[in-house]
Amino acid sequence: MKPLDNNVRIEGQNIYLRPILEEDTDMVLRWRNSDRVMKNFIYRKPICRSEHLDWLHNKVEKGLVYQFIICDKHNSTPYGSIYLQNFEEQHHRAEEGIFLADDDKIEGRGIGTEAGRLIVDYSFYSLGLHKLTARVLAYNKASRRMHEKSGYLQEAYLKEELFLDGKYQDLVLYGAIHS
Ligand SMILES: CC(C)(COP(=O)(O)OP(=O)(O)OC[C@H]1O[C@@H](n2cnc3c(N)ncnc32)[C@H](O)[C@@H]1OP(=O)(O)O)[C@@H](O)C(=O)NCCC(=O)NCCS
Repeated sequence: MKPLDNNVRIEGQNIYLRPILEEDTDMVLRWRNSDRVMKNFIYRKPICRSEHLDWLHNKVEKGLVYQFIICDKHNSTPYGSIYLQNFEEQHHRAEEGIFLADDDKIEGRGIGTEAGRLIVDYSFYSLGLHKLTARVLAYNKASRRMHEKSGYLQEAYLKEELFLDGKYQDLVLYGAIHS
């Protein structure tokens, strides 16, 4: 994909999405390395600053990842990040990922669902993709519900697919298809 234009702004009702910037690094690392995010992610080692900058320069700036900051529509407070990765241009497909700040005042307010819906619409109508996928640990009820409410259907339930922190975990594969 060609690198995401920094002027893109995806407008929702309560939030908007804007491309991630290098200035977001400290904030994004704080979110990404929080206990709540790490226990729900498949890759659960803390990310250090140089790894994140490497990701920004070699994935985001090269168009291999489209990453956004989710912001409040009225006062621009940043709430979290949503991104597309693993683009398969031949198949018009990409994989979605999302994490919000580990903050009780942010979680459970519908922000994840709205961001999820915005990225589905943007992917289908602006990027011309046909399908988005998401991999969700089966125990992550909030993410499963959020994806289902954002237009994804469960396509597979893989039993004991991953070995994480000393235990086998089930993985659910979700897909959203442009009809
Ligand atoms: C997953 C995540 C993005 C969801 O964002 P959010 O803004 O809190 O989600 P929403 O408020 O839009 O919706 C959450 C839904 O899950 C439901 N939910 C939350 N916890 C739940 C639980 N333990 N059991 C069942 N449902 C649950 C909520 O009730 C809500 O559904 P409802 O609107 O029908 O009541 C957020 O929790 C997060 O960042 N988690 C940590 C990182 C992560 O898990 N990322 C995804 C990896 S695949």
